[in-house]
Amino acid sequence: MAGMVDAAAIAALDAEARKGLELLTSGEGAGADFLGWVKLPEETDDALLDDINATAARLRETCEVVVAVGIGGSYLGAKAVIEALSDSFAPYRAGTGTRVLFAGQNIGEDYMAELQDYLRDKKFGIIVISKSGTTTEPAIAFRLLKEQLESQLGREEAGRRIVAVTDAQRGALRSLATTEGYKTYVIADNVGGRFSVLTPVGLLPIAVAGYDIRALVEGARNMQKATLDGSDTSSLVYAQTRNALYRAGKKIEILVNYNPKLHFMGEWWKQLYGESEGKDGKGIFPAAVDNTTDLHSMGQWIQDGERIIFETVLSVETPSRELRIPFDEANLDGLNFIAGKRIDQVNKMAELGTRLAHIDGGVPNIRVVIPALNEDTLGSLIYFFEAACGISGYILGVNPFNQPGVEAYKRNMFALLEKPGYEKETAAIKAKLGE
Ligand code: PA5
Repeated sequence: MAGMVDAAAIAALDAEARKGLELLTSGEGAGADFLGWVKLPEETDDALLDDINATAARLRETCEVVVAVGIGGSYLGAKAVIEALSDSFAPYRAGTGTRVLFAGQNIGEDYMAELQDYLRDKKFGIIVISKSGTTTEPAIAFRLLKEQLESQLGREEAGRRIVAVTDAQRGALRSLATTEGYKTYVIADNVGGRFSVLTPVGLLPIAVAGYDIRALVEGARNMQKATLDGSDTSSLVYAQTRNALYRAGKKIEILVNYNPKLHFMGEWWKQLYGESEGKDGKGIFPAAVDNTTDLHSMGQWIQDGERIIFETVLSVETPSRELRIPFDEANLDGLNFIAGKRIDQVNKMAELGTRLAHIDGGVPNIRVVIPALNEDTLGSLIYFFEAACGISGYILGVNPFNQPGVEAYKRNMFALLEKPGYEKETAAIKAKLGE
């Protein structure tokens, strides 16, 4: 923190952080109905993982492409893990995985039309994911893709290529899955969307892409155990440090990566912290940058703009591949001084140089290091961020497990679309717009 927030201010939150962790396990804090994720890694049994792996294998046998349909917590976790583990130019494990694409995470007409074009001559399947079963974006995408699949294969065969992940009893998707006889997985009532990546919501698409969900869960299990038995205090330290910074006027946290595979980990993290903490007029605004790319755009603001930010750098110790900078006789670009070095050595010096510059520029820096990008480390990282998020929300004094603010746009959208039952809202919004 280099003098920007003193150690005593962080230490002063020690008791509150410990209390936050205790509330997560005792279930005596706000939002206690949504604490199923706290012991989820340990409680995930082998039978479920076997079943998910068997469904994934069946989809891989019959499909070149599987479209995972979902939004928010029903999208970002799977996307983040698959992108982090995949070749940058092929989103699945080479040789064993099936290409996993995503839909229902937007209402882009061009996006959907282009996806339908792409799927026209492909053998494809669908994993439709919605806890409530009523979310508009995935419902529209699923309607289109289901119709396309049924017209390609007929209703019965299409039904064998559709898997639904939803609530155990309620919602339109549950009723449809029952009527059509789709294979289904349940999202437990006590696990909220943004904490659901280690349920079938995330595990099924990740398994279809060819990745080892057992190792992912095992990584999370290890972090769960160490966090709950107190042998790993990183989530406490992270939660109390970011709250000390917030109290010192640092209102924006930027998650920084130096590995393009982590772009969607930033998106997942933004949702986790944004929806959990941004309420009651409070909360750190979570932003993310991909460096060094964004050093050539947002770098100026971060170095020199208003001093209301701090950074959390997510650093990967060792890349999976080795590539060295070639020597060039002519040396017209002047790069021979780094010839023979690994690309990652340059990247790490960019990371260190940036951190030092930003600290000099008044930007406190937190650093989270993982040894490598693999299922095990990602599982641990996911649990670390989830635990810290719950603790942090309790320190902040909010219910980290609800999201009342996401309803406002839906009400307006339904009123504007004249959804039956919204007549009063439609009249009110038309009056407001002067129509
Ligand atoms: O974290 C959340 O609860 C939300 O982001 C939801 O995941 C998102 O709104 C999608 O909801 P559903 O799975 O019910 O379609």
